[in-house]
Amino acid sequence: MATLLDLSQQGDVATMEDSQIRRDLKLMMPQQLYELWERQQWQSQAIDLERDKEDWGKFSDQERADILWGLSSFFIGEERVTTQFSGLVMAYEDEREEAFLTTQQVDEARHMQFFDRYYREVFGLDDERIQDRLDRVRENVTDAFVKLFDEVLVEAGQRLIEDPSDMDAKVRFVTTYHMVIEGTLALTGQHFILDYLEKNGLMPGFVEGFSNIARDEHRHVAYGTWFLQQKAAGDESHTKQIQDTLAELLPYAAGVLVPPGFQLGDDYEFFGYTAQEQNEFAFTALTRRLKVIGVGLPVAA
Ligand SMILES: [Fe+2]
Ligand SMILES: [Fe+2]
Repeated sequence: MATLLDLSQQGDVATMEDSQIRRDLKLMMPQQLYELWERQQWQSQAIDLERDKEDWGKFSDQERADILWGLSSFFIGEERVTTQFSGLVMAYEDEREEAFLTTQQVDEARHMQFFDRYYREVFGLDDERIQDRLDRVRENVTDAFVKLFDEVLVEAGQRLIEDPSDMDAKVRFVTTYHMVIEGTLALTGQHFILDYLEKNGLMPGFVEGFSNIARDEHRHVAYGTWFLQQKAAGDESHTKQIQDTLAELLPYAAGVLVPPGFQLGDDYEFFGYTAQEQNEFAFTALTRRLKVIGVGLPVAA
């Protein structure tokens, strides 16, 4: 299982102290990230879920609804990021980057498999096909989620598939995928959900799988930060593309984790943490990464 030490040694600058964060910070390169991946294998089908089934049986209806809602974005999201990743694999610039990118696509498939198994075995959604389970789980996701994962991400991936040498398209894709979806959304949700479950001693199989997923995500975001640092250093137009993409997508990202019955800006709680605590965590992580990339946060118009 991924330990706290693992999580902080994945090359993701968001896990470092502010005093270490500089624009010229030397980041882990795709070859190192690939080798890290070889050392960090895990099996989505081998994690023991027996205690989780017992815990699930003891929750109130409200607790079950909250947990199902909180995890739905992850199950659907992992399926989306697996299939929509192919354009980036096609856009590799050398064999080391190619090797790393293929590992990331396998990781995303493994994450989706873990969620699928969990929904089947613990939550009891026993449809024959994964697609039928996904369709049922989809009833829980927000409009902002649909916009980001079904429209923006898919269009960014299509642009890369049409022309894998289009560097502008690659910068937009990595900003969307690694900076917004993984870095700002997924790692924030993971942090609070894991913290809540660990503190309360609940769902240990889920905690094990989700910690492994979080470790993988830090490695993915480390690649995205390295890539954008390279491109931002070489070309002003890439810097502008990163900023424009963030300005466009951060409002959607902010809407993804707003629970049913609430609006953006309301005071709500997510696994016992306030909206403000979540927003501050996401903002700090994004700010650290952008500082190393050398790009300022977009200013609201
Ligand atoms: Fe993932
Ligand atoms: Fe990922």
